[in-house]
Amino acid sequence: MAKTDVFCNRAEAYEAHDDRPLSPGGGETIGDVVVRRYSRRDMMRGTLGVAAASVLFGPSALSAREASATGIEADRFAFEEIDAGVDGTHHVAPGYRVQILLRWGDPLFADATDFDPLKQSATAQLKQFGYNNDYIAFFPLGDDGTRGLLCVNHEYTNEEVMFPGIVRQDLVCFPDMTAELVEIEMAAHGVSIVEIAREDGQWRPVLDSKYNRRISPLITAMTVDGPAAGHDRLQTGADPSGKSILGTLNNCAGGQTPWGTYLTAEENFHGYFWSDVCAEGGKPPKGLGGAEAKSYERYGVPGLWQAWGKFVDRFNVDKEANEPNRFGWIVEIDPFDPESVPVKHTALGRFRHEGAECIVNKDGRVVIYSGDDGRFEYIYRFVSDGHYDENDRAANMRLLSSGTLSVAKFLDDGRVEWMPLKFGQGPLTEANGFTSQADVLIDARLAADLLGATRMDRPEDVQPNPANGRVYAILTNNKERPMGEEDAANPRPENVFGHIIEMTPPDGDHAAGTFTWEMLVRCGDPSIAAVGALWNPATSANGWFACPDNAAIDAEGRLWISTDQGEPWPTGRADGLYALETEGARRRTAKLFFRCPVGGEMCGPCFTPDGETLFVAVQHPGTDGTDRYKGFERASSFADPATRWPDFAPSMPPRPSVLVITKEGGGKIA
Ligand code: FEO
Ligand code: CA
Ligand code: CA
Ligand code: CA
Repeated sequence: MAKTDVFCNRAEAYEAHDDRPLSPGGGETIGDVVVRRYSRRDMMRGTLGVAAASVLFGPSALSAREASATGIEADRFAFEEIDAGVDGTHHVAPGYRVQILLRWGDPLFADATDFDPLKQSATAQLKQFGYNNDYIAFFPLGDDGTRGLLCVNHEYTNEEVMFPGIVRQDLVCFPDMTAELVEIEMAAHGVSIVEIAREDGQWRPVLDSKYNRRISPLITAMTVDGPAAGHDRLQTGADPSGKSILGTLNNCAGGQTPWGTYLTAEENFHGYFWSDVCAEGGKPPKGLGGAEAKSYERYGVPGLWQAWGKFVDRFNVDKEANEPNRFGWIVEIDPFDPESVPVKHTALGRFRHEGAECIVNKDGRVVIYSGDDGRFEYIYRFVSDGHYDENDRAANMRLLSSGTLSVAKFLDDGRVEWMPLKFGQGPLTEANGFTSQADVLIDARLAADLLGATRMDRPEDVQPNPANGRVYAILTNNKERPMGEEDAANPRPENVFGHIIEMTPPDGDHAAGTFTWEMLVRCGDPSIAAVGALWNPATSANGWFACPDNAAIDAEGRLWISTDQGEPWPTGRADGLYALETEGARRRTAKLFFRCPVGGEMCGPCFTPDGETLFVAVQHPGTDGTDRYKGFERASSFADPATRWPDFAPSMPPRPSVLVITKEGGGKIA
């Protein structure tokens, strides 16, 4: 058995090489791919007819009323769409300017060492912009729109294009990893906070700003609050209090609170844990973790995606069984106080948090939506006990300490029920292994299982839109959903393209027990009936997309979606940023605004409040799917990457980067 099959590794969740090749780049059309996939399940030979696809997946397009209205209503997105495709660089709609703002290794402090990928060290990295930029938030400084704090997550590291001579380690049992390389990786994770300023239309980092800060799993102490703070299961040899945790990791998406704090989501924390018992290609044996065994199994601990536990004892579960319980939380950071201690809020539950999108409910309570990004995992909602007070920031900073965490059940009749995860209620009792609310939160997945939550196709961002009161749940894909296990909210088996659900709270009440829901789009190529896509017919051949991941709402209340197809690369087109219409006759129309270089994932779309600047993050350029990139057709390495974007210098590997997009001559985006 190949090692890729043995390990429950990064390859699995980051859309691994172990999937069947799907890209048209390999000589197949996307139609061939779809037909092969579905015919493999004996659905039928050849392309499915529209009628058959409609029976399987629901209507493939709009009602006659909606369709006949198409084209009458003006496009709310005034930009000229770009062509879909893939090459070694980025592309943006005509009339827009792209500026590279921050690349991996760029200085964040005046005394930072110049970046040299051949001489990188943890000490240097701690003063430089980290790796794999993901979520971005912008906090204005002053009122004139020329200064602000940019907070950026650094989700993970790709050793094969970071370090010379090192291949992808999780595929080969980590033979090349050293304590020094692991330290660099730890320093490259976490969060960057940096002041930026705009002069003559150009944004630049302010290196001598008092706000600049690097937060990492290597050096940054955090505290814990909420019902699980100090619990036995959070106590370790290094921290008998169970309330002091070193660092945060796998920070994927996040959120921004109205009181000016940054929320960062700990996603694939399980991948950072190690066990000597299974390090050499074995699976974790049943019972590993002792009292934590059931929890380990449900969360995939230890994941062995990284070699950290080989050198750092707390990431080795043989040596410290409780450390995994200290990750998988939402962390709140005050970017305006560089001395502040970040807080892990246990009231929001522990799972593979994709993000933490925040909205103030009409009654003043704060609501946070969060997806658990795993196949068949759930969508959660937190409602604070306390109320937001715009004049009391200190009190607001305690709002995420207590509240009600609920999990979603999507009913076929178009309702979605929010089921509270409360100790002592229903099955969440000692008889089922829960002795307190702390247990319920630490093992939120196990609690949600017992409540019968709906098993979704990998929930990513769950994005409320304050402009229309609705909430967008992004389901990226789930190629492992078997035929016969579809439901109304996850209607396609082997869902390689993903979909987006729109939820509507009654009377705009985000704390209500029941919402309604509707399918907004089923992704994939609408010209192939077998795909079962759902778009407005006004969507062009360039505008449809697959594998939605992050969502952002712009200053006009419009929805933007970024994509992450991962390794199977099902469309053969680069990931990008798309405008998606949610209102009127053009509802369900998508348009391509920006395209990533080959192998890059689109993350972090973030608009300034004036709508004139858009920040986007290109994550892991040159890595995903390059074995099927025409003319290259091999895995990227430090010496031989598919692209050297954005520097295109012979000595520089590809670098994850945050870009600034503005309109030529100024003005609002789109
Ligand atoms: Fe880190 Fe679910 O994306
Ligand atoms: Ca993501
Ligand atoms: Ca978002
Ligand atoms: Ca993703």
